[in-house]
Amino acid sequence: MTKDSDSFEFHDLQGLLRFGYGRLTDTNFMLLRIVDVGSAKQWLAAVDINNAESVSPPPERALQIAFTVRGLRALGVGEPVIAGFSDEFIQGMAGDESRSRRLGDIAGNAPEYWEWGRGDAALPDLLLLLYARAGGLDEWRSSIQSEQFSRAFSVLKELPTLDIGPIEPFGFPDGISQPDIDWAFEQGTDPHQRDSYSNRLAVGEVVLGYRNEYGLYTDRPLIDPRQDAAAALLPDAADHRGMKDLGRNGSYLVLRQLEQDVAGFWRFLDQASGSEPKAREKLAAAMVGRDLNGAPLITSVADAHGKQPANRFTYTEDPQGHQCPLGAHIRRSNPRTGDFPSEVTGLFSRLKKIFGFGLQRPDEDLVASTRFHRLLRRGRSYGPRLTPEQALDPAAPAAARGLQFICLVANIARQFEFVQNAWSMSNRFAGTQDESDPLLGHRQPLMSGESTDQFRRQDARGPAQITSAMPQFVQVRGGGYYFMPGLRALRYIASLPPGTGEGK
Ligand code: HEM
Repeated sequence: MTKDSDSFEFHDLQGLLRFGYGRLTDTNFMLLRIVDVGSAKQWLAAVDINNAESVSPPPERALQIAFTVRGLRALGVGEPVIAGFSDEFIQGMAGDESRSRRLGDIAGNAPEYWEWGRGDAALPDLLLLLYARAGGLDEWRSSIQSEQFSRAFSVLKELPTLDIGPIEPFGFPDGISQPDIDWAFEQGTDPHQRDSYSNRLAVGEVVLGYRNEYGLYTDRPLIDPRQDAAAALLPDAADHRGMKDLGRNGSYLVLRQLEQDVAGFWRFLDQASGSEPKAREKLAAAMVGRDLNGAPLITSVADAHGKQPANRFTYTEDPQGHQCPLGAHIRRSNPRTGDFPSEVTGLFSRLKKIFGFGLQRPDEDLVASTRFHRLLRRGRSYGPRLTPEQALDPAAPAAARGLQFICLVANIARQFEFVQNAWSMSNRFAGTQDESDPLLGHRQPLMSGESTDQFRRQDARGPAQITSAMPQFVQVRGGGYYFMPGLRALRYIASLPPGTGEGK
């Protein structure tokens, strides 16, 4: 059995798993269909994909690649191998009505209204992510679109992106909180050391083929090299002697095009706060959980000089949501809980919690332990910048604006889908009622008739301040689940004859 190596195989990992490529401000996300399988394989066998070894010196440009299940099948990955991928990946983001309901993809968010990613006609085979320095994208794109490329692929859609600085279109700094991946395998496996929140995350939570936070290996396709000689190219499976691992150094990439009604957001907030600029900003910050400078609303963690750490905080000191509302976007997306609430230390308390006795606070739910539900976010914005002040001007220029939301995870169901469903869309998160994520919610009433269009700011001085009848600010325009292979796995896929690949 191979152990998780001491030095990570960065040469086999696509760079996006380690770097955000922030200096490469210009991006183009191309959704492709394969039109000629032979040419596609030749192109894929030769293409230069940036690995994760180093960004020093910083690259001038970068190229990353990921496949849908449709694309893998088109390239000849056989059904026994496909069956080794997760059900969510195989079914796709829009492949099942109950999944759509769980993700909040109903009413105006429903796949039937998407611009891409649903039905067969609008389903891509692969995603190319192009990154370039300011002004360098056109040249980068034309150098990629060789004659062979044009024979191999047709462009289904190029997703718009535009660099508006390190903020998202509503105007808040983005990309502040990311998990700290334990590339050097330093983290202990003793679960008792994991009672409190830690930002450190096992490699296996974002990369397949390594131990995850349960100390286990996430399912992925393993191939017997005795039945498929081409599999000799692949890395060994760490948990199955003699098997080759198609997943190792790969990841699942979740892509969602989320259109943001920036004018609608600021106009609603203006109205809800009596056109008082300070109150408007305060309400917006409460919805996000950070202010317009990116500072967290949790103030109890300031240092001796009154300085707020950007990311070193939890909600332990604010169980009632008096500093940061319980339903704020960042609190829902990462409640920063450990395996046990902070005061649970002794054996007796642990057993009491394990068996569910003595729950006094809504956030004492053990299921909500955050380390099993982290996301590595790599999205980019699109549409021209509109400041909050400009947004309030009725003559503000209309334009499509939003986020090409990307996250990388090893388990789509346990990570992205759980966060989206149980935390963002749920109107029962941490004891909240009649509300879902203030940024992302679709605002449709539940089947029980309960509403989801409110937002509460808990207040130590009295009853919560309620904002009602919130419109939808974010609409889903498309989406999909992709497999981002390790670089040896990419070469293996490119080398397959049509219709082969025996799997476990
Ligand atoms: C248009 C849609 C969205 C907007 C405008 C938005 C905006 C933001 C902002 C401003 C932050 C705070 C900055 C930071 O900590 O990096 C943030 C954090 C975060 N968002 Fe979103 N977001 C959107 C969609 C989503 C979606 C779809 C998910 C996942 C399902 C998500 C998950 C997260 C997570 C995990 C964090 C970090 C929370 C933390 O660790 O404190 N976001 N988002």
